[in-house]
Amino acid sequence: MRVLVTGGAGYIGSHTLVHLLRADHQVLVYDNFSNSSPEALARVRQISNRDLASREGDLRDASRIEDAFARFRPDAVIHFAGLKAVGDSHGQPLEYYAQNVAGSITLLQTMARHGCARVVFSSSATVYGEPDYLPFDETHPLRPQSPYGRSKLMIETIIRDWVAAHSGARAILLRYFNPVGAHASGRIGEDPRDIPNNLMPYIAQVAIGRRAELAVHGNDYPTSDGTGERDYIHVEDLARAHLAALDALNRIAGCEAINVGTGQSTSVLEMRAAFERSSGRPIPYRIGPRRPGDVARMCADVRKAASLMGWQAELGLEEMCLSTWAWQSANPGGYGE
Ligand code: NAD
Ligand code: UD1
Repeated sequence: MRVLVTGGAGYIGSHTLVHLLRADHQVLVYDNFSNSSPEALARVRQISNRDLASREGDLRDASRIEDAFARFRPDAVIHFAGLKAVGDSHGQPLEYYAQNVAGSITLLQTMARHGCARVVFSSSATVYGEPDYLPFDETHPLRPQSPYGRSKLMIETIIRDWVAAHSGARAILLRYFNPVGAHASGRIGEDPRDIPNNLMPYIAQVAIGRRAELAVHGNDYPTSDGTGERDYIHVEDLARAHLAALDALNRIAGCEAINVGTGQSTSVLEMRAAFERSSGRPIPYRIGPRRPGDVARMCADVRKAASLMGWQAELGLEEMCLSTWAWQSANPGGYGE
C-alpha cells in the first residue's frame, strides 16, 4: 500500500515507519521537523534496510501537501503530526488549534480531492478526562481538560463527520494511553527537546546522570502505593497497532475509535524500581506535591482493539525499561549527539 505518514520523523512515527517498511508498504513522510530530526529517518532507513521518501512541509501549507499527494498518490494516511505538550497548550491554545485542528482540516481536504479515503489518526486517552469508571472503554464520556486534549477531540469529531460525508471513507482513531520505550536496537527513541514532562524520559535522564533526582508528583492517591498509576504501552506494540489499523480499515465501515493500551496500570514507584533493575543505575527520588490536573489512575479497556483489529500488547515493563535504557545510554543527548 502507498502510505503517507504525517509526523513520521517523530517518536511514535519513526517506530511505526520501521514496521511499515518491513511489511513492504511504500511510504512518504510529511513532516516540518519542528519536534524531530531528519536523523531519525536516516536511522529508520538503516534499521529497516529500506529506502524511504520524505518531504519537509507543514500541515497548514495547503499547496505543499497538495503537491505531496499529487506526486505520491497515497492509498492511506497515518496522521501523527501535531503539537503534543499538554502544559504548553494552556499557554498557547491558538497554536494548538491552528496546527492540530486547522492542519488536520487541510489534510482531509487534500485527501478528499485526491480520492484518498483512509486515515489512521493519533488520538489520545486524554480525550476521556476524569474517569467515571475504569478501565476506560471507548463509550466513556469525553471531557478533555486541556486545549491539547480538546484539539484531539475536535479532530476526532471532524474526521467522523468527514467519513460520514464521503461514501467509502474510513477512519480509525487510535486513543493511545502512555507510550514509552524504544526500538530494541537503541537506534531510535524519544528525544524530548526540553526538560521532560513525562515520567519515562525523566527517569531515563536521571539514570544517565542528566538530572539529579525524580520528583514523584504526589504519594497520597488512592492507588496501590499512593503514586499515580498509568497504562504504559510499549512504542513497538503501538507501532504494530498502526499496521493492524490499516488492515482493519478493509473490514470496518465508517469511523471507529479504539483504545491502545495494555489494560494494566503501573505506579510511578513501580516504574522507577523497574527502570533501576533494567539499567543497573540508581534512580534517586523525592516525594513532591501532586501535579495539577493529574488523575490517580488511568487504564484502557482493550477489548475493542482485540476484536476489531486482532491486536493486543505483547511487551511488558521490563522490555519498556530495557529498550528505553538502550536508547538513552547509546544516545545521551538524543539525535543531537
Ligand atoms: P512527536 O512530537 O515526536 O512527533 C510529531 C511529529 O509531527 C514531529 O516529527 C513533528 O516535527 C511533526 N509536526 C508537528 N507539527 C507539525 C506540523 N504543523 N506540520 C508538519 N509536521 C508537524 O510526537 P509523538 O510522541 O510521536 O506523537 C505523535 C502523535 O501521537 C501526536 O499527534 C500526539 O499528539 C499523539 N499522541 C502522543 C502521545 C505520547 O505520549 N507521545 C500520547 C497520545 C497521543
Ligand atoms: C501526560 C498527558 C497526556 C499525554 C501523556 C503522554 C497530562 C495531564 N497528561 O499524561 O495527555 O497523553 O502525558 O504520555 O499532562 N510523574 C511524576 N514525576 C515526573 C513525571 C510524571 O511523578 O517527573 C507521574 C505523574 O504524576 C503521573 C505519571 O508519572 O502519575 C505519568 O505521568 P506522565 O508521563 O506525564 O503521563 P500522564 O500524566 O499520564
